[in-house]
Amino acid sequence: METVVSGIRPTGNLHLGNYFGAIKNFLKMQDNNNCFFFIADYHSLTTHPTPEDLHGNVRQVLAEYLAVGLDPEKATIYIQSDLPEVAELTLLLNMNAYLGELERTTSFKDKARQQPDNVNAGLLTYPVLMAADIIIHHAAKVPVGKDQEQNLEMTRKFAARFNRMYNVEYFPIPQPFNFGEALVKIPGLDGSGKMGKSEGNGIFLIDEPSVIRKKVMKAVTDTGPTELNSPVAEPIANLFAIMSVVSKPETLEFFKEQYVNCNIRYGDLKKQLAEDIILFNEPIREKIKEIADNKDYLRKVVSMGKEKAHASASKTLKEVREIIGFKPF
Ligand code: TYM
Repeated sequence: METVVSGIRPTGNLHLGNYFGAIKNFLKMQDNNNCFFFIADYHSLTTHPTPEDLHGNVRQVLAEYLAVGLDPEKATIYIQSDLPEVAELTLLLNMNAYLGELERTTSFKDKARQQPDNVNAGLLTYPVLMAADIIIHHAAKVPVGKDQEQNLEMTRKFAARFNRMYNVEYFPIPQPFNFGEALVKIPGLDGSGKMGKSEGNGIFLIDEPSVIRKKVMKAVTDTGPTELNSPVAEPIANLFAIMSVVSKPETLEFFKEQYVNCNIRYGDLKKQLAEDIILFNEPIREKIKEIADNKDYLRKVVSMGKEKAHASASKTLKEVREIIGFKPF
């Protein structure tokens, strides 16, 4: 049985990118592994949410985790800030994380560009906090989407550096994981890039059918192929990519063939895509509403998760402290 760790920032509702990039794999792993899935609320502080927004978002993401099928009887589902050991391990790892390598990460550079008035130290050390999340439970596998690849590379580096520095084989070197396949990137509806919360191009699991139809019908397209067998332009390839995860394979094949033959009607493609997303979302959306209202259940899940996660984290911190040389007199 391997240990699996992954998390999601509570900065808004879960979208199709979160689902097909990460959650789908979480779900497949919780039966046969020692799984820890958490809500990364420390990480979300880099954008300075109000206390009300922070709490509301954590609750919402928790309800969404449970609605998609994460099972608190099988996996440890917890809130990152319930484990202060994560903050302590981050502090310890920070001593061996270098300014140059942190400044070079693409996620730091992107964020510094997106929020130039708020380039805080938390953004810089974001990958260190993420490494602490992962290695605190001695994870072997981390199911994530493609956008987290570089952060995972940093985690591997920090874990190996700790082992080397203290001449121990203490932390396993964790792998980003997608069942032997390449990591997934679900694109947005705006013609380029990935689907994301801050990009404003997402389809959320909680979106009502009318909202989904509106978003999909507004998706960026082009003037259409003019020659047989032309390569598929990026905005259309993006719609096909979303179709490949929510629609039947024959539906995707049908539209791809129409593209190749220059017969494609983007209106039809979008209508079909919207209906397939609606079908996919429907049962999840209903469940989210049901669970979000059940405060007692949410409270129970959080306290169960906290207890199990704490047992694992406190053992690690005790051992790490000894390795480093904080020893009792
Ligand atoms: P976050 O909250 O941005 O995204 C959560 C998960 O969803 C995946 N994801 C996507 N996958 C494919 N296509 C997309 N368009 C897409 N958008 C998001 C992400 O890859 C991620 O797996 N730093 C992390 C949260 C985190 C974490 C961790 C993850 C904190 N500590 C430890 C794993 C292990 C983040 O911001 O993900």
